[in-house]
Amino acid sequence: KKIRIIGIQIDLGQKQRGVNMGPSAIRYAGLSKKLKRLGFELHDSGNLFVPVRDSLDDEVQEHFLHSIQQVCQATYEAGKQAVEEGYIPLFLGGDHSLAIGTIGGVTHSKPSGVIWVDAHGDANTPESSPSGSIHGMPVAALLGEGYPELVNVGRAGAKISGKDMVMIGIRDLDGKEREWLRKSGIRVYTMRELDERGMSIIIREALQILEHCDRLHVSLDMDSLDPNVAPGVGTPSPGGLSYREAQLLMEIIADSGKLASADLVEINPILDHGNSTAEIAVELIASLFGKSIL
Ligand code: ARG
Ligand code: MN
Ligand code: MN
Ligand code: MN
Repeated sequence: KKIRIIGIQIDLGQKQRGVNMGPSAIRYAGLSKKLKRLGFELHDSGNLFVPVRDSLDDEVQEHFLHSIQQVCQATYEAGKQAVEEGYIPLFLGGDHSLAIGTIGGVTHSKPSGVIWVDAHGDANTPESSPSGSIHGMPVAALLGEGYPELVNVGRAGAKISGKDMVMIGIRDLDGKEREWLRKSGIRVYTMRELDERGMSIIIREALQILEHCDRLHVSLDMDSLDPNVAPGVGTPSPGGLSYREAQLLMEIIADSGKLASADLVEINPILDHGNSTAEIAVELIASLFGKSIL
């Protein structure tokens, strides 16, 4: 089995500076060494081109829509190619807007279920978003709603349907986003449900819901973890996953044997304590790729 690492230093989807440094922080935390030790053939293809935010003053009013569209298009092509060449693409962000490109690209020639691990639903449209930030919109775009420039990245229209997606760790939704999610067909596991039922039961049920999918894409937003565990994120939300809950989630997904692609996003080294959030992220990714304790 072979993995291709693809870095996407995008910070255009939100206002906090620093998330563009995520791919470096993750690499410095020893990602490729850990994955090689698990027996994977590893190919790091470097970073895709992302324009520097400070060079885009004329796009500020448009929330960098044009540049995000271009980056997502390049991401789409990279994801599509990696899958066609038999790699498991592992995308390092960068903010979560890049998932428009990753999930679009990996589903180009083969369908995939999506496990979205996040504090947030990221299911806003330009009309429902209180912030205007595009990292709060990728799920809506992937299901065919919002800016046409984003909906039509790679190929026209929706890339997945609600029944092909589950969300885990959710605890911070905007008003209209919440209504939209309820009608979306996505199975949303909130923190409340997780507290009541436990991670093991929930992820096994989620895998059952996605049983019709032979391939799975995991989109891991590090703000899904509790900020006490993962402080280096731009939009922290209290009451998140514990380290062990996140580990168990990754371990059980790995057991399914269906992992076909993954995103690791929203790490902001400027806000981190040392490089601890990236180091935890690397531990989680190792478990996702099959590292077991014994
Ligand atoms: N719901 C908020 C918004 O739309 C926050 C989104 C946070 N998204 C993220 N990928 N961290 O602005
Ligand atoms: Mn997110
Ligand atoms: Mn989030
Ligand atoms: Mn606006």
